[in-house]
Amino acid sequence: MILILDLGSDENTVLARMIRDLGVYSEIKPHDITKEELAKLDNVKGIILNGGPLNIVDGKAIEVGDHVYAAQVPVLAVDYAKTKCADSLAQWPADEAEMKEIVKTFLFEKCHAEANWNMKNFIADQIELIRRQVGDRKVLLALSGGVDSSVVAALLIKAIGKQLVCVHVNHGLMRKGESESVIDVFRHQMEANLIYVDASERFLTKLEGVADPEQKRKIIGAEFIRVFEEEARKLEGIDFLAQGTIYPDIVESGTKTAKVVKSHHNVGGLPEDMNFELVEPLTYLFKDEVRACGLELGLPYEMVFRQPFPGPGLGVRCLGAITRERLEAVRESDSILREEFAKAALDKKVWQYFTIVPDFKSVGVKNNARCFEYPVIIRAVNTIDAMTASIEQIDWPVLSRITDRILNEVANVNRVCYDLSPKPCATIEWE
Ligand code: XMP
Repeated sequence: MILILDLGSDENTVLARMIRDLGVYSEIKPHDITKEELAKLDNVKGIILNGGPLNIVDGKAIEVGDHVYAAQVPVLAVDYAKTKCADSLAQWPADEAEMKEIVKTFLFEKCHAEANWNMKNFIADQIELIRRQVGDRKVLLALSGGVDSSVVAALLIKAIGKQLVCVHVNHGLMRKGESESVIDVFRHQMEANLIYVDASERFLTKLEGVADPEQKRKIIGAEFIRVFEEEARKLEGIDFLAQGTIYPDIVESGTKTAKVVKSHHNVGGLPEDMNFELVEPLTYLFKDEVRACGLELGLPYEMVFRQPFPGPGLGVRCLGAITRERLEAVRESDSILREEFAKAALDKKVWQYFTIVPDFKSVGVKNNARCFEYPVIIRAVNTIDAMTASIEQIDWPVLSRITDRILNEVANVNRVCYDLSPKPCATIEWE
């Protein structure tokens, strides 16, 4: 393993990914790693002190402990003025190809690392570790159908088969065909032990008349935990809870300075009073590695490359107080948008795309008569980290076909609009 010590560089994850792409496992750890923590790490072949503009905390330059230099492995310091190592670099070259050459030399000539890290080996190792951790006991997993929980499920099914109990809660705010696809892939194709809970009515009743977006999110999150907990209590002899925690969740959680604009509460949180041991086999994978793992495990492409979908689902796209007729309009128009984006190969190009139905009507004319119905708003954005986003420029004929289909096929809709606002000022979702 190559250890990267975080001295505030923005390039830590790029570097870690680059090293893994070269077939050598790498991890990022805080600069103040203790001697004991360092000693516990498995097979460290080299250390990179990755500095940058932020390697100052509270006005003081970050200092790396002497035990790091005494670890008896090659140390490369980059953009780190306080370094005590001889082969240091002032900064990485701007060109990624040149950066890769330096990294390669360090890995293979200085550290004599072996290029043996790949997805097949990762899966084989994880299966072994999961079997060792779990033995013949049972594991519970909230399977939403999102990328991370689906990959965790596929990995656990391979490791422990029916000892894994998956619970899929349909909160009634899923996209068209989504719960069906979870059942098809996991129950029918992978023969998993899957409990399907259709809680749609229960969620819709709880949400009746609730117009405030944060309140809606809270209700959906809390109700989800309640339903999941009820299912878990019906089951006997479960000792473990599996979670789809991935590496960015861990790396970013300590450094986030972004102000909270929305609660972004992920549905599927851990019931706090439940006494489970955690199984988190994806903890060290980046998102693209999670996808590669999913493909290697045989999950369908559409599931592995699913666009991001908020935990509260269509609940935050049916604006204001949710009604069944507007929810249906969101679901149907979203399905048309997805179909047409796939036909135009925009599904592989655009980061997130969806429809919104607001809680107001406008006048229109249908079959020579005045009608008073809802608009559908289309949103299609590109972003790297969801903190800022730009608008995809969609060809007019594609927009026009989508508009025709929505107006003809979706009930209670008489107008289609395209949202041109970047983030900021707008956010990606409307609520
Ligand atoms: P905004 O609307 O804040 O969204 O620009 C940024 C990204 O976060 C997703 N999002 C959520 N995800 N629970 C989630 O799991 C939420 O409540 C939530 N709200 C927004 C949004 O879809 C976009 O990808």
